Amino acid sequence: MDYYKIKGGKKLRGEIKISGAKNAALPIIVASLLADGETVLKNVPDLMDIRTIIRVIEYLGAETEFDRENHILKIKVSKIKNGEMPYELVKTMRASVYVMGPLLARLGEADVSLPGGCAIGERPVDIHLAGFEAMGVRIELEHGNIKARAKKLAPANFTMRQISVGATANLMMASVLTSGKTVLENCALEPDIVDLGLFLKKMGANISGLGTERITIEGVKKLTPVTYTIMPDRIEAGTFLLAGAITKGDVTLTDCVPEHIQSLTDLLKESGYNIETGKNTVRITPGKNQKGFMIKTLPYPGFPTDLQAPVMSLASILPGISVIIETIFENRYTHVGELRRLGSDISIEGNVAIVKGGKKLMSAPIMMSDLRAGASLVIAALAAKGTTEIRRIYHSDRGYEKLTEKLSALGADIKRVKGGTF
Ligand code: EPU
Repeated sequence: MDYYKIKGGKKLRGEIKISGAKNAALPIIVASLLADGETVLKNVPDLMDIRTIIRVIEYLGAETEFDRENHILKIKVSKIKNGEMPYELVKTMRASVYVMGPLLARLGEADVSLPGGCAIGERPVDIHLAGFEAMGVRIELEHGNIKARAKKLAPANFTMRQISVGATANLMMASVLTSGKTVLENCALEPDIVDLGLFLKKMGANISGLGTERITIEGVKKLTPVTYTIMPDRIEAGTFLLAGAITKGDVTLTDCVPEHIQSLTDLLKESGYNIETGKNTVRITPGKNQKGFMIKTLPYPGFPTDLQAPVMSLASILPGISVIIETIFENRYTHVGELRRLGSDISIEGNVAIVKGGKKLMSAPIMMSDLRAGASLVIAALAAKGTTEIRRIYHSDRGYEKLTEKLSALGADIKRVKGGTF
């Protein structure tokens, strides 16, 4: 297995182009199953999760052609079929559950493995299923598989008991072809959901209220395939800003949407960094009076849980105490033990992390436990004295495109080494 070797202490400098958003691309790729013909998606990031979801839709009958160099994915749909997907495909990626929406909309049936627990929490899919049931779908669980059946999907008024990105996406996809008006309440406001909605609208769906808590969908008879450009990845953008911050460098993100990462740029300003935003750019440089911060993860536009681990690495070196509260996932502190190995002083009580900052980090062998935990370790290693080896980097391959190349272009000393032992 490959591993990273990072020699810390280099100030990152330069411009970095942000890739397309993983969490927008995943549902959009699946939503292409809603229309017969050829969908062309641009700015699709070349990531492990994207390759997995492509295999998933191929399994359901789509033909695909992915030009990885140019980030263009062509998806041809003529006939889709339901079928029990191999567990191996679903277990590697929870987003496979997204196929339920389009399959139910087009065929009135969907069989998928019930996703199990995951490194960051239990992550049930009960809200997705309750929403489908409200649309008249019968749900049964057999041998770990969800069997969903409906003669005809019925429009529904459904309130999600908790804001869920995945359930909002799945229910939107299920209802676009259902005759009548579906009203979804307590929806996710995440830009990824808005991007999915804009894609569906371009295909001919009648959706209003995107980016608000109430999304209304008037079913249409048919959708038409389109060409669509995936929005930039706000979590990748945030990760690079934090890499710039921890190395006290001068980093400019290009091709990003500054508004999408405002909760992070506000925090960085308060912590003593200069942030300059342009139309599609954000530049970070160190300012005066750097200090710790207090942050709570929340659904968008709050501070994203996906940046909680990366921002904790920065807290380790900022003078003073930082307090971080994780409210979205119950087990998202698996990076803490590894950060401690680099010299961070972090104590955890329930979902509250208290970071005593001002530490000089030092290299140590460490291991990734999930995608964003992995990002936090890379960020910390960039600031640590000595050479840090990071194992299990397949986690970061799921969500960061060309991480070594991008960080090297900013002046980081990072190498991907082949053939580790674990
Ligand atoms: N939840 C339920 N029941 C459900 C659905 C969700 O209890 O049916 C709970 C979850 O367990 C969690 C909370 O609701 O506590 C929010 O979960 P949500 O459904 O919003 O998360 P998701 O759709 O499973 C997406 C992203 C995650 C990101 C979260 C939160 C994708 C493919 N994944 O997950 O991204 O952390 O939203 O913003 O879009 C990542 O990219 O590393 C990642 C984990």
